[in-house]
Amino acid sequence: MKKIKIALLGCGAVSELYLPIFKHIPEMELAAIADINKEPAAEAAKRYFIPKIYMSAKEIAQDDEIDAVIVATPPQFHYENIKTLAETGKHILCEKPMAHTVEDCQRIIDVCNENGVKLQLAHMKRFMRGNQKVKAIIDSGALGKVFMVECQWDVAVPQIVGTYREKVTTGGGVLQDHGPHAFDLVRWWTGNDIKEISATVKIVHPDRVNEDTAVVTAEHENGMTGFYHMTRIFFGREYDHDYYKIYGSKGTLEVINEHHFPTMSLESPKIVFYGPGDYVKNMDVLHGWSLDDQVMQNSAFYSELKAFSECIINNTEPRVTGEDGKHAMECVAASYESAFTGKKIKLPFTKTQNFGNLFTELKIRDSKNLGNDYVIGSKQGEEIQVSDPVLAYRPPRTHEKWDENKNGMHDTASCDGIQRKLKFKK
Ligand SMILES: NC(=O)c1ccc[n+]([C@@H]2O[C@H](COP(=O)([O-])OP(=O)(O)OC[C@H]3O[C@@H](n4cnc5c(N)ncnc54)[C@H](O)[C@@H]3O)[C@@H](O)[C@H]2O)c1
Repeated sequence: MKKIKIALLGCGAVSELYLPIFKHIPEMELAAIADINKEPAAEAAKRYFIPKIYMSAKEIAQDDEIDAVIVATPPQFHYENIKTLAETGKHILCEKPMAHTVEDCQRIIDVCNENGVKLQLAHMKRFMRGNQKVKAIIDSGALGKVFMVECQWDVAVPQIVGTYREKVTTGGGVLQDHGPHAFDLVRWWTGNDIKEISATVKIVHPDRVNEDTAVVTAEHENGMTGFYHMTRIFFGREYDHDYYKIYGSKGTLEVINEHHFPTMSLESPKIVFYGPGDYVKNMDVLHGWSLDDQVMQNSAFYSELKAFSECIINNTEPRVTGEDGKHAMECVAASYESAFTGKKIKLPFTKTQNFGNLFTELKIRDSKNLGNDYVIGSKQGEEIQVSDPVLAYRPPRTHEKWDENKNGMHDTASCDGIQRKLKFKK
């Protein structure tokens, strides 16, 4: 079988997550790498034995040997790059967010359709095995009717790191960057499109120009509520705090990604099912025996690339389509509209927004509200003084008797740091 010759356009952070995976995909050959800056492309070519280095989508388009391209440039360039590539017949795996505007999302769908090429969206959270297990649990009916999903995605980048993400031209901040993953995942899990959105966004960091904190409440089809919360101002044990709680009429499911960086982690999230009474069941996915097994079983990027190769080989619809990418971006755009107008916004939402004006206004508002007393430090290791913890024990279950020591709330309890013995003051 002829291998699919693939090129990777954009040699930044996300390219590092794709590059090591190709050796596990026999259907594909990584034939070229491209970036407007030659240095990272040349470096990657050397490390991964990639035969061709290019500096633009145009150069890849002119290479008749290339069948498909992963477009991993900043989102405001996705449409122009994809147009150039699709017009010469290259199949596209497009990184999220699909584009910086809903208008560009539609233009991407159109240009791929007109040229008969596949368009798969890189919503890789659908390909994480733990998330696939969650879908299987929901589809099994074990949770009953899902009426609410809470989704928390905080990323510990409290400092300014100077990437395209911190520029107004990108068309959005954390919500544009991470929202598409979250909206798409919940929609896929539950089969429920979002029909109305209410949101608030904030620029907390004094030097940021677009939002670093967002809260979205979404009314999904079938009466389900989605609660989405994301921020970059986060100090945590992990870099990436990725957490979900799915509420159903028969059970509640918690999905806790405890790893430093769940996006590329091969470990299972903690998946815990809570049913009536005291029923609790751990439903984590299994670990592979060898590193190769682990990649092939549990790497989202492996499964995503496999799905992409399959849709090209079998001429089938991609598992994540352009319409999926566009719906996710409509949710982002509607959230901005809601945050700036103070109104609930109905979907589909296709209005073109002026991000420059929106974020300038937001900056003025939030500098007044938050700017004066908010200092963000990246200094490590400063000692902090806190008072003793207030210990709240779980209340008794209905069939249990109240036990003062087990269930009481001891606001005067103190914790002996060495012996870890609890001393209760009556
Ligand atoms: N799925 C995920 O988990 C995930 C993770 C990170 C980033 N992403 C997405 O991948 C895309 C890139 O993000 P990143 O973090 O790698 O960004 P980055 O800033 O680290 O890298 C972007 C690279 O693209 C290059 N570039 C910019 N314009 C270009 C052009 N017109 N032609 C060729 N190269 C160009 C830059 O020189 C840079 O090397 C974004 O859409 C982002 O949302 C997805």
